[in-house]
Amino acid sequence: MADHTAPPSDQLAATTLVSAPTVKKHQFSDRVLIRSIVSRPDGGAGLAGQRVRVGGWVKTGREQGKGSFAFLEVNDGSCPANLQVIVDAAVADLGQLVPTGTSVFVEGLLKNPPEGTKQKIEFRVEKVIDVGTVDPAKYPIPKTKLTLEFLRDRIHFRPRTNTISAVARIRNALAFATHTFFQENGFLYIHTPIITTSDCEGAGEMFQVTTLITEAERLDKELIMNPSPSEADVEAAKLVVKEKGEAVSKLKSDKAGKEAITAAVAELTKAKENLAKLEERSKLKPGIPQKDGKIDYGQDFFARQAFLTVSGQLQVETYACAVSNVYTFGPTFRAENSHTSRHLAEFWMVEPEIAFADLKDDMNCAEAYVKFMCHWLLDKCFDDMEFMAKNCDKTCIDRLRMVASTPFERISYTEAVELLQDAVKEGKKFENAVEWGIDLASEHERYLTEVKFQKPVIVYNYPKGIKAFYMRVNDDSKTVAAMDVLVPKVGELIGGSQREERYDIIKERILEMGLPLEPYEWYLDLRRFGTVKHSGFGLGFERMILFATGIDNIRDVIPFPRYPGRADL
Ligand code: 4AD
Ligand code: MG
Repeated sequence: MADHTAPPSDQLAATTLVSAPTVKKHQFSDRVLIRSIVSRPDGGAGLAGQRVRVGGWVKTGREQGKGSFAFLEVNDGSCPANLQVIVDAAVADLGQLVPTGTSVFVEGLLKNPPEGTKQKIEFRVEKVIDVGTVDPAKYPIPKTKLTLEFLRDRIHFRPRTNTISAVARIRNALAFATHTFFQENGFLYIHTPIITTSDCEGAGEMFQVTTLITEAERLDKELIMNPSPSEADVEAAKLVVKEKGEAVSKLKSDKAGKEAITAAVAELTKAKENLAKLEERSKLKPGIPQKDGKIDYGQDFFARQAFLTVSGQLQVETYACAVSNVYTFGPTFRAENSHTSRHLAEFWMVEPEIAFADLKDDMNCAEAYVKFMCHWLLDKCFDDMEFMAKNCDKTCIDRLRMVASTPFERISYTEAVELLQDAVKEGKKFENAVEWGIDLASEHERYLTEVKFQKPVIVYNYPKGIKAFYMRVNDDSKTVAAMDVLVPKVGELIGGSQREERYDIIKERILEMGLPLEPYEWYLDLRRFGTVKHSGFGLGFERMILFATGIDNIRDVIPFPRYPGRADL
């Protein structure tokens, strides 16, 4: 007779799982991520009794019980929390394991710690598989609290610190959020070129890409070792050719044998080759090639002048005007000599471009995207955000919550100027005078978002004189359909616009700004053939990380910062 008291087999399996949860080994390395132990809702307590391998770097280590065992705080970068590891002196040389920075790969047992301990789980080592030792006297990032500025001089070691690794995880999460947001909204990810021949912002802040200099240096060296032939050398070689030619003619008219003629012809060919070589080399001139008193870019790698891109916008527009919703997300470069905490020479930009969309659609997209990223960090990166709130900026979590849930303020540039002028009348002091037509300075932007509205503000319809040529001219002929999103802590996070889709007007704007037409002909073609209303924006990815984490300097939120005077690694 069937035993009706026994649970069905699927229920049985479920109960077994609950009573003995297993922690999953990492798919591509022979160990368990520390995150999958300590980031469980129970802090790892339910995993007691499991035998696992872990690997990581010792944050702090101390010998205890007169050297009979050691406590190690081990972190593998998978989460902000460390795993408490206990090693007995019988298992390993403790002195070798305790220095900060040591890497350990160990096997052992997860155990419940004694009552009253902070940790929910600890790890007792049974076997040390591998150790990467550290000489504490020489280790460049000792255990003491280090400033972010100090760490910038040790760029290759700073990912081992709590702050920089938390920033790395937050940055990663924001990149994932970016792709998720745009993919879920039907945008195609387009890879725009890094090397470009057009200046998007028309501001002339481009890094040039050229091989002319290295070529010139190579040639200089070569000419020292092997000088180019003199005129006399060339004349002498010409004479040899003449003589060899005459010899061949003579043999022919003397009706000499075939063999003798063939040999003389071979000598003539050799002499001609030698002359050609000398003539070619005699043309070599040291230095950068010139033509009509200017650098001859025709001899450069791309046979024209080329630069690192300042924005992928112009190129991504070609796809927006074909597949309608696109975005690009890549590195951009600006050779502006600014030493501020908000500027980098190399930074990452997210640039969506939407066809059949006006400025209002653009603002709606920007607002939804920023809110999406705030929600994402609160949902998926809360432990790192808590770390930031504790160690960098107490207000960062509240700021994310506020931005995620509050509609952004939207004001025209003209209104913004009026508000700033009102503030001045009420006694507010700005370094830069406020009047209609100025480019808003960072202090103005921060006043609007941090003091006046205390939330993100979108300023739109800027004077055309201070904005790029591609922005759509409004009916007042004085302003363009531009918008900047300003956020607390950072100021300008996003710059965007509706694009000028009318051929005659954009052509006029290019000329008005003193830019050459030729490099923009292809861009004008988009207006000549099947033009369409379209809009887009660029979000400075590092500025978004500054805003999220509350970190003060942009150089600390990109793995390898590049700024005037500095490009380590
Ligand atoms: O306002 P920007 O110059 O706009 C553009 O480049 C447009 N082509 C974007 C578009 O419409 N597709 O730059 C966009 C954003 C700024 O709002 C700022 O957040 C960031 O890029 N940014 C910088 N971030 C770090 N360092 C710099 N030097 C930056 N310059 C701009
Ligand atoms: Mg801008």
